[in-house]
Formats: sequence, structure tokens, C-alpha cells
Amino acid sequence: MYQLAVLASGNGTNAEALFNHFKNHARVRVAALLSNNPDAFALQRARNHGIETFVFDKKQFRESDDVVMWLRERGITHLVLAGFLWLVPPRLIRAYPHRIVNIHPALLPKFGGKGMYGKYVHEAVKKSGDDTTGITIHLVDEQYDEGRILFQATCPVQATDTAEEMAGRIHQLEHAHYPSVVERWVLGEL
Ligand code: GAR
Repeated sequence: MYQLAVLASGNGTNAEALFNHFKNHARVRVAALLSNNPDAFALQRARNHGIETFVFDKKQFRESDDVVMWLRERGITHLVLAGFLWLVPPRLIRAYPHRIVNIHPALLPKFGGKGMYGKYVHEAVKKSGDDTTGITIHLVDEQYDEGRILFQATCPVQATDTAEEMAGRIHQLEHAHYPSVVERWVLGEL
């Protein structure tokens, strides 16, 4: 059985889509939800699904092996970032080489990098005047938003869109694709 840990900092709608997708899966299960934010609603979503949770602070994450040990003790095989806003430290990338995936709410390599998350991404897209945006699912390496791209999907930007309207459209795209792309990746099909 492949065992996924989802990392989320906020609301966790993508985490929820992953929980639902893998609920009765024969080969893949979501075994844990980790967060840097004790108030993340994603934690509550996990508890509602009976999924084990772990909250860590910056020091634990960057300067200790607490997180890696916690994951190893539970036999976690892959990490899935779902609205997780901290840079993944080298020690975690070394523990899970090519086994960490992220979703970004724009078409990388545009609109990536430090500070580019959530509404900041949508505001930047809008400001750029681009008439198309989308989502990127990519492997995580030691730079923000630069690992191998597994999948992209696009949607239009309307001239009248607010950042919230764009976020809504992007979320729909994310929920429609992230779970199945993660499934194919974990099973070695991507
Ligand atoms: C998602 O749109 C995800 O792409 C984005 O945060 C949102 C989390 O929503 N991630 C980033 O911006 C990473 N740079 P959710 O908490 O409802 O899943």
C-alpha cells in the first residue's frame, strides 16, 4: 500500500478532494495530514475523515528531524502539498527524493517563486493582462516552483474577473485534476 501524507496550511479544499478520492482505493491511502498552522481548517477536515494529524513549528520543520521521523514511523511513502506555504527544507527533500508533489494555482514557470501563493498569484495574473491562467502540478525540489512539471490545465481569465472569481475557477480545476494526477504519479504512470 502506498501511504500519502498531505501538507496543508489553510482551508484544505484540495486536501478534502484527496481524502475523498482515495477513500476506498485498493493501493493508495491518505494516512496523514500535516500543517504548520494550528488553526488550519485542513486539520479539522482530516479529523472528520479519521486521518491522523501533526502540527509543527518552523524550527522543528527546518532544523530538526522531527517531521521526517514522524513520517517514517508511519510508513509514509509520498508527500502531497496542498496549499502548503513554507519552502520544503533540504532534509525533507533528501528523505523523499522525487516523492513530493505540489499544486500551484497558475501556469508555471510564470507567476511562481517566493510569496506567490493564493490570491497573490491571481492578482499578478490579472495585472499581467493574460487571458488564460490555470494550474500546474509539479515535483518539488529545493527551489520554489521549479521541479518537473507533471500536468497543467488552463482556464480563461475574463476581463471583469476579481481575484476571488479567478480563485474559484482555479479551485474547480484543482479539485477536478489533482487527485487523479497524484494517483497516476504514485502508481508510476507519470
Ligand atoms: C490552492 O489554490 C493551491 O493551488 C494554492 O493554495 C490554494 C489552497 O487552497 N497553493 C499555492 O499557492 C502554493 N504556492 P485549499 O487550502 O482550499 O486547498
